[in-house]
Amino acid sequence: MADQLRYDGQTVVVTGAGGGLGKAYATFFGSRGANVVVNDLGGTFKGEGASNKAADVVVDEIKAAGGKAVANYDSVEFGEKIIDTAIQAFGRIDILINNAGILRDISFKNIKDEDWDLIMKVHVTGSYKCAHAAWPHFRKQKYGRIINTASAAGLFGNFGQTNYSAAKLAMVGFTETLAKEGFKYNIFANVIAPIAASRMTETVMPPEVLAVLKPKWVVPLVANLVHSSNKTETGSIFEVGGGHMAKIRWERSKGLLLKADPETYTPESILKKWDQVNDFSQADHPQGPANFLELLENAQKLPPNEQGPKVDLKGKVVLV
Ligand code: NAI
Repeated sequence: MADQLRYDGQTVVVTGAGGGLGKAYATFFGSRGANVVVNDLGGTFKGEGASNKAADVVVDEIKAAGGKAVANYDSVEFGEKIIDTAIQAFGRIDILINNAGILRDISFKNIKDEDWDLIMKVHVTGSYKCAHAAWPHFRKQKYGRIINTASAAGLFGNFGQTNYSAAKLAMVGFTETLAKEGFKYNIFANVIAPIAASRMTETVMPPEVLAVLKPKWVVPLVANLVHSSNKTETGSIFEVGGGHMAKIRWERSKGLLLKADPETYTPESILKKWDQVNDFSQADHPQGPANFLELLENAQKLPPNEQGPKVDLKGKVVLV
């Protein structure tokens, strides 16, 4: 058997750890030697009310099993208080799992500003506030691991979830940038789109499906991503649930390059070649924006009627 991944001496903050996925992460890290900050506001899945009980129950469970944990009851909107709990209790923060979440599902026709704003506050502002408060500690110690939580709804869209989808895809861009800014300080950030039985999903999935989607089956992937032995995986998106895990990446079609000439670069000429825009037979998997200069240079080698604008190597585009 491979050596057990351990987190002795490290401090893990798990937001929304009073139930569902957060509880599964918190109890796992508690059982593997970490100091755990169990954050939970303790409200309903729609973000109403608050209670200390959700976090307390999990702290008690971790301690009863011989682990180290403290509770924090602040909303993630006040992330600095959550990170402060970690510093006060354990003197450090090594791993942040941005997991807290709520739903305000409603058709776009009927959505109200408050449904939009609350989802943005909890998912987007909450993740930002926690990461931002942890960041100086991570930089100083040249070590930090972050997991942000997206959703299939964010990656693919879902009926009744414009607010939630927008917030969840924001987690992808947030993670990709944190990964870029953090790399030289050994701060790694990855984002997961989990699927698991929880109070969030029990209203929309039948019991037989929920039975095979235990939250604990999301934990092993997260455990690897935030472990110090992970020295390469950062800025990545994973789908994970029910024992399955897979990586998601962008795909860009080879695309269409038209001569940037008022005579030929017209909406009509794009429409005529729409199949080329949609053709993924020569796609790539980009880590960044298209290299337009290279594309333009290549375009000059095309037959005259296919050519794009002329470009010199200093990057000045010369329209012909
Ligand atoms: P859950 O409702 O069981 O857990 C979320 C926890 O976050 C709750 O304990 C709640 O009290 C806490 N919370 C809510 N607002 C908070 C706030 N402002 N500050 C601190 N804590 C707060 O739901 P579940 O399913 O475990 O969700 C965990 C994360 O995974 C969420 O971000 C959710 O959007 C995401 N997710 C879950 C999926 C699933 O299949 N369960 C699917 C896709 C994403």
